[in-house]
Amino acid sequence: MIHRRHFLQGLSAAGLLLGNARNALAQAMSHGRIPPAEATPGFDPDVELSLRAETGTAQLLDGAPTAVWRFSGNVLKGPADALTFLDGSGHIPVIRVRRGQKLRVHFDNALPEPSIVHWHGLNIVQRMDGHPMYAIDPGQRFVYEFEVGNRAGSYWFHPHPHERTSFQVYQGMLGLLLISDEEEDAAQLPAGAQDVALVIQDRSFDGGNQLVYLGNARHNWMMGFSGERVLVNGRPDYRREVVRGAQRVRLFNGSNATLYHLRWSNGAPFTVIGSDGGLLEQPVQQATLTLGIGERADVWMDFSSLSAGDTVQLLAESWSPSLQHFTAEQLGLPLVDGARPIAAFVAASASVDSLPLPATLSRYPALALDEAVNAAAPRRVEISMMMGSPRLNGRSYGAMDEVADSDRVTLDTTEVWEFANDVSMGMGMGMGMGGMMQMAHPMHVHNVSFRVLGRSRKGAQSDVHQHLASGFTDYGLKDVVLVLPGERVQVLMKFENHAGLYLYHCHILEHEDLGMMHNFLIET
Ligand code: C2O
Ligand code: CU
Ligand code: CU
Repeated sequence: MIHRRHFLQGLSAAGLLLGNARNALAQAMSHGRIPPAEATPGFDPDVELSLRAETGTAQLLDGAPTAVWRFSGNVLKGPADALTFLDGSGHIPVIRVRRGQKLRVHFDNALPEPSIVHWHGLNIVQRMDGHPMYAIDPGQRFVYEFEVGNRAGSYWFHPHPHERTSFQVYQGMLGLLLISDEEEDAAQLPAGAQDVALVIQDRSFDGGNQLVYLGNARHNWMMGFSGERVLVNGRPDYRREVVRGAQRVRLFNGSNATLYHLRWSNGAPFTVIGSDGGLLEQPVQQATLTLGIGERADVWMDFSSLSAGDTVQLLAESWSPSLQHFTAEQLGLPLVDGARPIAAFVAASASVDSLPLPATLSRYPALALDEAVNAAAPRRVEISMMMGSPRLNGRSYGAMDEVADSDRVTLDTTEVWEFANDVSMGMGMGMGMGGMMQMAHPMHVHNVSFRVLGRSRKGAQSDVHQHLASGFTDYGLKDVVLVLPGERVQVLMKFENHAGLYLYHCHILEHEDLGMMHNFLIET
């Protein structure tokens, strides 16, 4: 049962509106527009930034620069490193804040179309979340103001205008939001130049170094975009000199649709110290890492046993959502056992005393299964690719303010959600066995961090599934979980601090734009 609700009601339920702002909003809404948020005089930011979405160029490949859409910006108040740009092509911004700080961001849209910024992973008030209903027109400004409530971790931000997210991210719009806090300080992790972020994205280029994206064919969008080249921080040849000691490496899958299965060229395991929602309780070692779109992994790498000049590469296998493995024909880049070197770390002559790997990294907020209000009957999200449209629970995204009765939850409760990627199996008529319907979907929920409780499946796990599953990081706090074909994945989450209207969706950006997304309403 679906019915429209006037989202003004949702807004006031969230306690977002005061007095006459409500009238202005009601008026604007009758014209189908919400006025952009403006700076509030009573809000005294610790960090204040300008962030501008604009067209420009970036040096992605050697030779001609590439036309991109990008963020630019500067620090208006706060430490100079509150906004920097990643090494590499220099078009990916990094915002650094501490938990508890008040952040104000003046977001200016200088793109030729509407946009809005979503802070991926943040527990945040509805109006600041970047829901597509808040998209602003070219020439408009939206002022974000919020106190950073999340624990330390590697979060990120990207545009979220309806049906244009995939295109805008592909053009280059993406940034990192790195939060620190006292708990992270106490863990004494490698910092400064020994704390590096790697954003992995694939792109295709024409002969003039310009980006090539999907055409309009619906089939292509169903399959999701996969590029011929894999860029790290905007470069196909990312290289970094590292002191011989411990290094923190934060890995982000910022691609539109491609999954990566990663390993180190020297056979070292990944020592995982954090995932989407910050530090783990203890480090975990695993030979490989699988990152779905939007997922992050924070790893510890010790380069102290290298000799000066030695190189360690990060090797990546690219997998499409339909689990096709990308191999050889990658523009002359040599493959190492079927994987591509995407980043190189070269040991410098300088060595440092290696920091000890802490045995205990953090204690994250307990999410207890016995507190779940629906453990016996989890809220089910059925993933399907039927009739040429990616759907959740049998339907595509509707109106911006539409909420199904089955998508209402209550503030301050804990729930189990089950992402079921097995509903199209066994339906005959090519659904199920038809390849195209069998895809891995990275499922994302706004406003929460969840624990992955477990995975189950009907039938046998294929070799490909086993291969990818060996690299999962199903621990810690997550906001994206990759759901393989045939699988059901149960997650546990608590709706805290903010009532309001939020989204859950597949983070294959083309699927999101095709409507594999729904609103859910957190009610008081
Ligand atoms: Cu990173 Cu709604 O997404
Ligand atoms: Cu998000
Ligand atoms: Cu999907």
